[in-house]
Amino acid sequence: DDPDSLVSRPPVVTFLGHVDHGKTSLLDYLIGINVVSGEAGGITQHIRAYEIEKDGRSVTFVDTPGHEAFTEMRARGANVTDIAVLVVAADDGIMPQTEEAISHAKAAEVPIVVALNKIDLEGVDPNRALTQLTEHQLTPSEWGGDVEVVRTSATKGTGMDELLETLLTIAELNEYQANPSRSALGVCLESEQQGDRGVVAKLIVQNGTMRVGDVVVCGPTYGRVRAMNNTLTGEPMEEAGPSTPVSVMGLEAPPGAGDRFHVLDDIADAREIAATRADASSRESLSGTTTKV
Ligand code: GTP
Ligand code: NA
Ligand code: MG
Repeated sequence: DDPDSLVSRPPVVTFLGHVDHGKTSLLDYLIGINVVSGEAGGITQHIRAYEIEKDGRSVTFVDTPGHEAFTEMRARGANVTDIAVLVVAADDGIMPQTEEAISHAKAAEVPIVVALNKIDLEGVDPNRALTQLTEHQLTPSEWGGDVEVVRTSATKGTGMDELLETLLTIAELNEYQANPSRSALGVCLESEQQGDRGVVAKLIVQNGTMRVGDVVVCGPTYGRVRAMNNTLTGEPMEEAGPSTPVSVMGLEAPPGAGDRFHVLDDIADAREIAATRADASSRESLSGTTTKV
């Protein structure tokens, strides 16, 4: 991209951590809605991605059902994450899935911010978790390291401004940029077939601007964007710029998590590219070399 067309874009922040440590609750608090109480068994089953704004600065948050989704996307070369928030419940400390999340975040080479959550619980000793973090080469800044540890309570709202500020500061230092005037490209987070609405795909635009009417190839499928909706409010959108999560209608078939998409001019070209990919992947799955998601 021409450096002159680059502008700053919001950071994409992914919540990772052990089950029930409070990823969804933290995100709910930050965006001011309550998804967690509506989840079957309190377990996240969908990837959610929302853009929020504070004092004119935006952050895009991704909540995952566990790090598998994160790993899967990375395995497909689709790293959407700029910053990982490692959620550690202060009562449990570092658990097996926390360790896995740490290694995934390290492999992705993104900055890690720790949310030391459930700090409201009686009798918790933050030093225990700080010691464990240090043992995992995540030395807290308060102990001379370079990892910001923010004490949070998603139920009380403790530390929420500090968490947001920490993320925005990292974003400013890293100067994440994109070119909104080029044709859009990005990654599919998840998708489903929704009766009358057809295929609804949750995408993150990483670069460029996507518009209603655009022709898209996404993994082994393609289509023309018929409508787009804000992932948080459900409101219709005409365009989605860099780092924007968006629900897109108009694809022929549901793409998989981590499938990359790009916009092109010609629907016939899109159909051909998609067909070639679909062919290749069905040949691969017949020979058992890959598992289709
Ligand atoms: P999965 O998506 O299932 O991995 O869980 P999660 O990490 O998203 O955790 P979730 O937000 O579902 O929270 C799990 C439980 O912990 C819920 O009952 C929350 O109410 C509770 N919880 C979350 N944050 C806090 C907190 O700061 N303090 C206390 N006391 N409870 C919390
Ligand atoms: Na949960
Ligand atoms: Mg959750």
